Amino acid sequence: MANVELTNVRKVYGSSVEAVKGINIAIEDGALCVLVGPSGCGKSTLLRMIAGLESITDGTVKIDNKVVNELGPAERDIAMVFQNYALYPHMKVYDNMAYGLRNRGMPKDQIDKRVKDAAQILELTQLLERRPKELSGGQRQRVAMGRAIVRSPKVFLFDEPLSNLDAKLRGQMRVEIKNLQRQLGVTSVYVTHDQLEAMTLADILVVMNAGSVEQIGAPLDIYEKPASTFVASFIGAPPMNLVPVKADHSGLVLKDGTRIGAEGLSIPLTGALIGFRPEDLEVSAGTDTHIGGLALDLKVLGVEPVGAESYVYGIIGGERVVVRVPGRSTSNTDDQLRVIIPKQKLHLFGADGKRI
Ligand SMILES: Nc1ncnc2c1ncn2[C@@H]1O[C@H](COP(=O)(O)OP(=O)(O)O)[C@@H](O)[C@H]1O
Ligand SMILES: [Mg+2]
Repeated sequence: MANVELTNVRKVYGSSVEAVKGINIAIEDGALCVLVGPSGCGKSTLLRMIAGLESITDGTVKIDNKVVNELGPAERDIAMVFQNYALYPHMKVYDNMAYGLRNRGMPKDQIDKRVKDAAQILELTQLLERRPKELSGGQRQRVAMGRAIVRSPKVFLFDEPLSNLDAKLRGQMRVEIKNLQRQLGVTSVYVTHDQLEAMTLADILVVMNAGSVEQIGAPLDIYEKPASTFVASFIGAPPMNLVPVKADHSGLVLKDGTRIGAEGLSIPLTGALIGFRPEDLEVSAGTDTHIGGLALDLKVLGVEPVGAESYVYGIIGGERVVVRVPGRSTSNTDDQLRVIIPKQKLHLFGADGKRI
């Protein structure tokens, strides 16, 4: 087992594509670190630099307190699990799992023990004689995991391992991977573009954007205190509502000219945004301005019942927003609602997109 430390890690492809722009992350021994961000933000590139599959332009990668920049993948004591499983189709499950160990010349009885132990952990014991095409997607993914486990590496690296599975199975596998990682206690770096997967798996969450780190922290801390509008709209679904607001001598003005009272809020004169999560709005019965909160008028554009809750889409101050209400909503298109944002649920961002 091992810690992983990235210091000013950069990657330039060719002469000009800066895919990773100087990243610092420290991952404690045994932790599960998730790199999340939109497609093309540099997640795979960073993971591949940790794996040794991609050269490092600048900076250092340390595994177990040792700089590994110049070591090949086989010398880094890591195991990688990919989206497409990369199983050998003509080999039985047993042989797929044993393959890497045989290549290393491990004695047969040791290989047998490791494969059978891993099969038991992954509930693959009954499937060891099958070939990949005789398995479901979830079972194949477990074999890919098994192949990583038998090597008992210092670090697991996952690159979108669940992307090929349907939503239900993805949910199940997410729980399995989390439990397995806890049980084995192997330091792991997990790449995904799926914010829900990231939130539920991570001990430490790294939100990436255009080759840089936007925010690092515990998932719920990031959810509750996003450092930027990028993080605010990337983490959480539906995303945080962001409404532009200006300040003048007598208070705050929304895009469509609506004036709002906001005692005690200090907002820069231009370019600011107020943010509020869809679940943090209270629909108010009256028309009173609420003590300790921001009262806003919302015009309903439509309502989507999704079962346990409803999404009410509407306009506040000329900006589209969404509100989550429990159960069935009684609102209809064109209704005018008064909604309250409790002050402690209000987020403020400056013109640079950074949290104020
Ligand atoms: N081999 C490569 N050569 C040149 N550019 C690349 C190469 N691999 C990735 N890139 C570029 O680097 C950026 C980051 O890619 P990648 O790490 O694959 O993103 P992600 O995994 O977050 O989707 C993208 O702009 C991509 O086009
Ligand atoms: Mg990728």
